[in-house]
Amino acid sequence: MEEKGVVQSRQFLWGSATSAHQVEGGCTNNNWYSFESASDAHGRPRIKDGDKAGAACDHWNRFREDIRLMKDLGLNAYRFSVEWSKIQPAEGGIDRVALDHYRDVVHELRKNAIEPMVTLHHFTDPLWFAERGSFLDDASPMVFGRFAEIVADALGDMVRLWCTINEPTVYAINGYVTGEFPPAEIDPGKAVRVLRNMLRCHTEAYHVLKNRLPGAQVGLATNIFILEAANRWNPVSRFLAGLADRNIHRSILRYLHDGSFEFNIPGVARESFRGPRIETSDFVGLNYYTRFRLRFHLDGQTRVTHDVPAQGPGATDMGWEIYPEGLIRAVRLIRKHTDRPLYVTENGLADDGDTKRAAFIHDHLRALERAVAEGADIRGYFFWSLLDNFEWAHGYSKRFGLYHVDFRTQRRTLREGSRAIAEWIRRSPGPA
Ligand code: FCB
Repeated sequence: MEEKGVVQSRQFLWGSATSAHQVEGGCTNNNWYSFESASDAHGRPRIKDGDKAGAACDHWNRFREDIRLMKDLGLNAYRFSVEWSKIQPAEGGIDRVALDHYRDVVHELRKNAIEPMVTLHHFTDPLWFAERGSFLDDASPMVFGRFAEIVADALGDMVRLWCTINEPTVYAINGYVTGEFPPAEIDPGKAVRVLRNMLRCHTEAYHVLKNRLPGAQVGLATNIFILEAANRWNPVSRFLAGLADRNIHRSILRYLHDGSFEFNIPGVARESFRGPRIETSDFVGLNYYTRFRLRFHLDGQTRVTHDVPAQGPGATDMGWEIYPEGLIRAVRLIRKHTDRPLYVTENGLADDGDTKRAAFIHDHLRALERAVAEGADIRGYFFWSLLDNFEWAHGYSKRFGLYHVDFRTQRRTLREGSRAIAEWIRRSPGPA
């Protein structure tokens, strides 16, 4: 019989990932909803083409059909987020209908032998929470801990895998440095405070979940971009790329491992604190997409752009370099900080023409296999995303779905390139 790697073993989780605001529809009570109607200082809409999430993929109503689509591909796991603003529409309130909905989703997944991984926070804040300053508020861990309790009590009997927060650095940088996300305030000092408080929220939720649900496995999904200087011969560029890497990636990994947080970009933002010296993750969730070969323009108005090498597989519709080797490098970086198990909680590409998807999937899964061969304890891989969906500031212009979605009819169609993942899974050994 053909030798199979660990990546192909039966217990391995093969999933797809989504987030509530991007797919559900009807998210009218969170900070993105208001952001989508706002304009910037020049009167331009915040979202490309003035798009609004609106009905999105109507996944709220069509989740049964969508679970069937997962089954059709042979997937055995699904990472999704619960929408905080639906569960707690007002501070202190609880909407039982929303909780029952998520129970139905989890129940349907279980019925289909699909393991749920629930994310508590994926970029969106209830309006009432945004009004109190979101994660700038030093009391946010208490508020978030209460939310974690509510969800744990509602879903805990059926959910084992939990992601507290999705990509705290992206939330903080896009919300408070680049202005791509709400509240679009340009203040790096605030960004670091937000990051620190999000990590404190993670810790709070970690303890809540572990205390209430002894069998729970709890982690956080962190993005890792491979960051390098485009002009490597330039020591200033190398130094700046290293500085970005340390602050964006290592600050999080170190915090999860030993409770200490250190962020220092001289002259821009600095923050450090030490929490209780304990590891607060049962696993690390890795969101990996690309390498950014950074070019620093220190010409009066400091700007950072990135290059895609002329040789190689090129870029996705996001302009992101396709760089499978980066997945192995990201795993190695995590393993320098912790030996906890790892899930690839997101990996994927925007490719409307579907010319690059199959090779992307194949090459990244090969890379994953090599990471496992190096000794990494990787327990699952979640493809971003099941469906084309609302891609934040890019609106509906970027299509990441295994399934194409016609947003007029809500018709889902499998993309040819997506068959690569089904074939890979099919080649894995069946039940013993
Ligand atoms: C990640 C986000 C996810 C999606 C992908 C493309 O940073 O977690 O919601 O936008 O990028």
